[in-house]
This record gives sequence, C-alpha cells and structure tokens, in this order.
Amino acid sequence: MSDSEQAEIAVVDHGQGHPLLLVHGFPLNHSMWKHQISELSSDYRVLAVDLPGFGQSQPLESPVSIRDYADALAAMLENLQIERPVTFCGLSMGGYIGWQFLTHHREKVHSLIACDTRATNDDDRTARGRRLMAQQVVKDGSQSVAAGMTLKICGQTTQENNPDVIQHVASIIRATDPESIAAGQLAMSEREDATPMLETIGVPTLFAVGIEDTITPPDEMKLMADRVNNSRYVEIPYAGHLSPLENPIAFNTAVRSFLESTV
Ligand code: MLT
Repeated sequence: MSDSEQAEIAVVDHGQGHPLLLVHGFPLNHSMWKHQISELSSDYRVLAVDLPGFGQSQPLESPVSIRDYADALAAMLENLQIERPVTFCGLSMGGYIGWQFLTHHREKVHSLIACDTRATNDDDRTARGRRLMAQQVVKDGSQSVAAGMTLKICGQTTQENNPDVIQHVASIIRATDPESIAAGQLAMSEREDATPMLETIGVPTLFAVGIEDTITPPDEMKLMADRVNNSRYVEIPYAGHLSPLENPIAFNTAVRSFLESTV
C-alpha cells in the first residue's frame, strides 16, 4: 500500500494509466474498494481515498459540507500532480460528492461512475433523522450505530451468505470517529438537490446499483440514468447498497466494460 503520508487525505495509489478515483460511501473508508484496488490496478491508476475524518484522513473543520469534501479531493489530485482528468467513481455519499465535484471541478472529470446513489436531496423527515443520529453517535459512540447501519447497507444475499463482508463493514463503522460520522450526516442533511444538473452532465456516465439495494433502489437509479445523455445503467445481482464489495466480479466487469469504451 503506497499511502501518501504527507497529505491530509490518505490515499491508496496503485497501478498506472488512466486515473480512476474511488470515493467511498458513508461512514466507511477506502477498504470498501479492496476488490477494485486489487483487480483494476492491473490496467488503471486506482486512487482509493479516505474522505476527511474517515479512515486515516484528518477531519476538516466543522461544519463540513459536501462541497468541502469535493474541494478536498480536488486539492488532493493537485498535490499528487495528477493532471489527467479522472474517472470519478463514487458510491452513495461518494456520489453526492461527485455531483459537487462535477459542478466545481469539471475540468478534472473525464467520466463518472455513480454507484448506489441519488441526485435528490433529503426531505425534512430524512434530514431530521440525520440530525438525531448525529447527536446519538457523538453521545453513545460509533459502536451504537454500527450493527444497524451494517444491516441496512448490505443486501439480503450478503446477510445470509457472506459473514466476512458483514464483519468488515461493521468493524469499519465501529472504528470510525463519531464526530466525523456526525459531521457527514449533517453535511448530507444540508446537501443541494443535484437533479437539475443531470441533463447537463456532459461526460460519459455509468450508473451501477445492487439489485437488493433498499437505500437507493434500482428503479430510482434507472430514472436518474434515463435523464443523462450518453449514460449506461447496470444492475448488480446478489448485492445491496455496497455493490462493489458484495459482488465484486459483476461490479468490476461493468466498470471494465465502461472504461474500455470511454478511455
Ligand atoms: C452512504 O452509503 O453513503 C449512505 O447511505 C448515504 C446516505 O445516508 O444518504
């Protein structure tokens, strides 16, 4: 693992060639991409980050916005002197960051992979739930939310057949700084609606979603894909909200096919 130790953002940087930036979901870290790092780095430069406050990256000053995460990623690419536009691949909260990254750093984007995510922002009820969760996690610790979140994120097939994935996800959440979990929830609760930008994305885009995803379900992702010119839509079988980790073979096949046709 060639982590960039000086940078505020920890990044696993493997392979050479076209840069593929992997941005994890909430409240995880770069290791949710372990199968993409090992498999796709044979042909691409895979950059798997820990967002500020997650994994080994330092937190940003609170309050944090989704735009702040996007700006931190742009600064990281500049620090690494990556001048080629990247394929931005974000899962869920990573996808929310992707909309901001496209809006404010479009010159850095070659193409987009939006995994298990949505463009709409929170309704009042969801935003209120996030604020309550943010208070709870700071008071009771990350342990108090780990089991419930893990079961929500992982699909039924994974829950029944893949205890290693369940343990991996739960252990990441337990180890995550509660203040950063709270900061992420508050950032998501205040994010902008990205729906109006779907028609103007203007770069090749792949939408990938686990068929068993109950957080950002396939029918919602399909509607989003239908609004984006030049987009592809792929459903990943036997996977929930964490399709790259739950069914890496199908996920990597979809990503490879997309990259081969666009890079
Ligand atoms: C994620 O996986 O990043 C979360 O499900 C996003 C969210 O809570 O909206």
